[in-house]
Amino acid sequence: MVYAGIVAGGTGSRMGADIPKQFIVLAGKTILAHTVLRFLEVDKIDKIYIAVHPEWLDHTKKLFSDHTDKIVVIPGGSDRNKSVFNIIDAVKEDNELSDDDILLTHDAVRPFVSADTILANIEAALKYTVCTTAVPATDTILYSENEIVSETLDRSKLYHAQTPQSFKIKAILEAYQKLDESQRSKLTDVCGIFTAAGKKVHIVSGEVSNIKITTPFDLKIAEAVLGKKSGSEKV
Ligand code: CTP
Repeated sequence: MVYAGIVAGGTGSRMGADIPKQFIVLAGKTILAHTVLRFLEVDKIDKIYIAVHPEWLDHTKKLFSDHTDKIVVIPGGSDRNKSVFNIIDAVKEDNELSDDDILLTHDAVRPFVSADTILANIEAALKYTVCTTAVPATDTILYSENEIVSETLDRSKLYHAQTPQSFKIKAILEAYQKLDESQRSKLTDVCGIFTAAGKKVHIVSGEVSNIKITTPFDLKIAEAVLGKKSGSEKV
């Protein structure tokens, strides 16, 4: 089985809107609905789990009430990783897992992910066990701990991580088992879990259009892509 896990449990503090940014409406649909639609349109995706902030659970269930055969809405966690693990736990509870069952985890606020990227993730997760989508860095990246440049990093070796990040579900449970509490507390994403457990994370070539909507400026870019103004009415 191929599962998608959409993490939508954040509050969007950097966006500064009066609602979490994934519920802002763009071209007649919430950003979350745009994102989920990308996965609904890929036949190879069997089921989609969406983790949302508990206060938005009922609203989100209503939003996707026409798709209860394929979409399950669950409460997210207090950080992104916890939302990912809430999805893993829900998938595990609802389904009998086989060794090759995979989960594609994706940010709710990346609504322009393409079917090609989703399909490439499915292929790579099945072949390599774990993969992340990434694009080569185009800006020069500086390393600094105190606003003084300590190092200019070699750009040819740098990537911007995107999502999906995808993996065999049984493998992430095994990898997580191997880590101690201090390792677990430092992890920020799926790549971190697998690399800390000594596993190789394969890179799937992403697309620059797969932007993460984080700030009001990103919202303007998304509006320009869709040719529509955003709004905060409940849809
Ligand atoms: N996310 C989540 N659960 C959390 C925090 C974040 O599922 N407790 C999700 C967000 O909803 C988003 C994705 O992780 O889809 C990427 O996180 P980010 O862009 O940082 O979202 P927010 O945490 O909402 O934004 P901010 O950091 O500005 O508050």
